Amino acid sequence: MSRFKILLAVGGALLLLPSTEIHGANIRSGGEPSLYEQHLFKRQAAKQNDGQQTSGLYDENDSVISLTAGNLKERVFQQPHASLVEFYNSYCGFCRRYAPIWKQLASDILGWQKLVKVTALDCSQDENNAICREFEVMAYPTIRFFAPYYEDGAQKIGDAITAHAETEVINALIGHMHNVTQKPPGWPDFTPMIDNASKSELFATTESRTVPPKYAYIINENETNGTTVGSQIILDFIDTPSAVIKRTKDLTQPSGLRAIIRETMSEVPLPVDEFNREKLAAAIRRHLNEHHISVTEVSTKSTNKESSTDQNISEIMERKQEEALRAKVKELGPAVIYQADLEEALKFALYHEVTRFKKIDGERLLALQRFLNVLVRYFPFNENGIKFLKEVRQFVLNSEEGIDGDDFASNVKQIELNRASIFASNRWMGCASSKDGLRRYPCGLWTLFHYLTVQAAESEMSTDPLEVLQAMHGFIKYFFGCSDCSNHFQQMASRNKIWNVTSKDDAVLWLWASHNEVNRRLAGDATEDPEHPKIQFPPAEVCPLCRKTLLTNHHNHQQYTLDGGNEWDLLQVLAFLKNMYNFANRSPVGLQDDGILPQKMAYSGTGENFQTNRIFGNVLNEMDIRMGALLYVACIVMLLIAVKMVVKRGYRKKMYAHDILGKV
Ligand SMILES: Cc1cc2nc3c(=O)[nH]c(=O)nc-3n(C[C@H](O)[C@H](O)[C@H](O)COP(=O)(O)OP(=O)(O)OC[C@H]3O[C@@H](n4cnc5c(N)ncnc54)[C@H](O)[C@@H]3O)c2cc1C
Ligand SMILES: *[C@@H]1O[C@H](CO)[C@@H](O)[C@H](O)[C@H]1NC(C)=O
Ligand SMILES: *[C@@H]1O[C@H](CO)[C@@H](O)[C@H](O)[C@H]1NC(C)=O
Ligand SMILES: *[C@@H]1O[C@H](CO)[C@@H](O)[C@H](O)[C@H]1NC(C)=O
Ligand SMILES: *[C@@H]1O[C@H](CO)[C@@H](O)[C@H](O)[C@H]1NC(C)=O
Repeated sequence: MSRFKILLAVGGALLLLPSTEIHGANIRSGGEPSLYEQHLFKRQAAKQNDGQQTSGLYDENDSVISLTAGNLKERVFQQPHASLVEFYNSYCGFCRRYAPIWKQLASDILGWQKLVKVTALDCSQDENNAICREFEVMAYPTIRFFAPYYEDGAQKIGDAITAHAETEVINALIGHMHNVTQKPPGWPDFTPMIDNASKSELFATTESRTVPPKYAYIINENETNGTTVGSQIILDFIDTPSAVIKRTKDLTQPSGLRAIIRETMSEVPLPVDEFNREKLAAAIRRHLNEHHISVTEVSTKSTNKESSTDQNISEIMERKQEEALRAKVKELGPAVIYQADLEEALKFALYHEVTRFKKIDGERLLALQRFLNVLVRYFPFNENGIKFLKEVRQFVLNSEEGIDGDDFASNVKQIELNRASIFASNRWMGCASSKDGLRRYPCGLWTLFHYLTVQAAESEMSTDPLEVLQAMHGFIKYFFGCSDCSNHFQQMASRNKIWNVTSKDDAVLWLWASHNEVNRRLAGDATEDPEHPKIQFPPAEVCPLCRKTLLTNHHNHQQYTLDGGNEWDLLQVLAFLKNMYNFANRSPVGLQDDGILPQKMAYSGTGENFQTNRIFGNVLNEMDIRMGALLYVACIVMLLIAVKMVVKRGYRKKMYAHDILGKV
């Protein structure tokens, strides 16, 4: 018997015990908030007073200013400078890959910060949900330009910049800056000089400067398709009072740079080997240095640093608890799913993804209905939770004309509040990440849909093999904010013939194989959490029987083959998935306010709620039987331990699951 099986069996038993409780009474006791919740509230309150948001993909060491719902408008409306805002979502893989580019851009134009600020807002934060909807952020990342003195008002959502590459964003930015009509003090004059303008005119427009410039630098842009390099140099030397930069568009002369010295009105060409920002700026700097004028180098360190003050006790406690939970997840291994992740995914889907749209109608509304249908059928909630989902579905069904995302958010919240204690989770567990911005929601979404396909396959409720896949396809197409992922998924779905899946078991395997295809494509990518490499799932250590040495390829499924002289044993894979994504095998570890304490089982567990038919029912094989026996033994052992603990310690009201698990 391999160590893994024992581990899995014991783990399974741990999970089996409390989860049965879910079908019975409410899994959470009401009453006062737990110590942990109290800390959370405190922390949230502290965060709201704090202008600088430090979570997300950017921190205080970047030149990117993090905005929040509370300060976005304050910072971009009616300002004596322009703003670039990146609306992103920290779970979106593309945003993550994009973050270094945005940081680079911010640091490359940090010298322009009096005129334009580079900012970012994380739409995945709860408190930013409404503002992202208000600004009609439909895809991540969305980049918008806000001109100086930009006014608040209906449809005032900034000007979209669709480019992403740094140089293209800068070009677009300059284009917008050229067009600014309400110019704040110190705004440069970008208009090109008329050819052969007199040299003295060059200095005429600069009379208002406190220090009259001694040198003028003229950049000739001999380009028919437009270049912004001259304007970039103008901005680069905005803080150098000794120099005035001008651009010309003289097509009779080659592109180039020349200097004019005011004192003598003499003109010297400044050769550059390449006509770009770096070379031009260097040539000007060199010329100024030769004339003993030093140019203040712009620091690449951000100036908007704010000291972290709330490194207080509650955070330390929270971190300790978090660490203990992480350790538990590691110990339980990769073949375990968590109730917490399923709930977090559902919360995020309902409160962040669906609510992004100003109008949900037509196909999108239908997709939402289908999603809610499978949730009502298969989501692992207690009775209260299922009623919540049914009421949300009813609300959607009643809104034939379409729903405003705002209304959806407030109605769902109201339904949740009316029902109370719907969600028992407040953190990611199996989908937690070792670094900010990884895993979490997309991981939770995969987990949720795998879970739903398995539930459908194990249930008699529907005979439609496509029920869950269709709901998933619609949800990913119309609601998944990672548009990059959504597009890939739709292409893959048609390539892998999603609509030709003919049985519920095939649906389970279809999703598994397609997920592996995504894993293969993303392996080693920037979205990969080093602690959770993207592997072909399940790994051999976890399911040795799932892989067999390739003899004959009697399966006709191209997408199901594996590298390295192996092929999948699809029956084993199916059995494995059905076991892993089983209702009874969800782990309660990490749920808040542990109403589901094992000692409760000692009192109330009658055994009737045990979902034995589910776990041993459909996919009996040798391993399952052995595991079943082990589970049974482990259950008894657990019960004994639980009883013993209750006797020994007395009834402790707030005990975290890991306290107990830690004893085993
Ligand atoms: C529909 C969809 C499409 C996506 N497309 C893209 C994309 O195009 N580009 C991009 O950058 N990101 C994409 N993502 C995100 C990406 O796939 C991961 O979800 C994300 O990078 C987090 O990875 P992870 O390591 O947490 O594991 P995930 O891939 O999210 O997996 C979550 C969990 O599922 C289990 N699992 C893994 N593989 C399988 C399998 N084959 N069968 C059953 N269970 C499995 C494991 O327990 C794993 O921890 C997509 C996500 C979704 C939901
Ligand atoms: C910022 O940089 C300092 C100095 O390198 C470092 O100590 C600090 O941890 C960094 N902060 C973050 C959030 O990375
Ligand atoms: C700037 O104004 C010009 C002329 O009105 C217009 O053609 C151009 O598209 C504008 N550029 C941007 C970035 O808005
Ligand atoms: C136009 O712009 C591109 C990209 O910057 C550049 O390669 C090209 O030389 C420019 N000029 C013309 C006439 O296309
Ligand atoms: C998929 O189904 C369609 C319609 O039922 C059928 O015409 C097509 O041949 C099928 N394709 C495959 C590869 O099975």
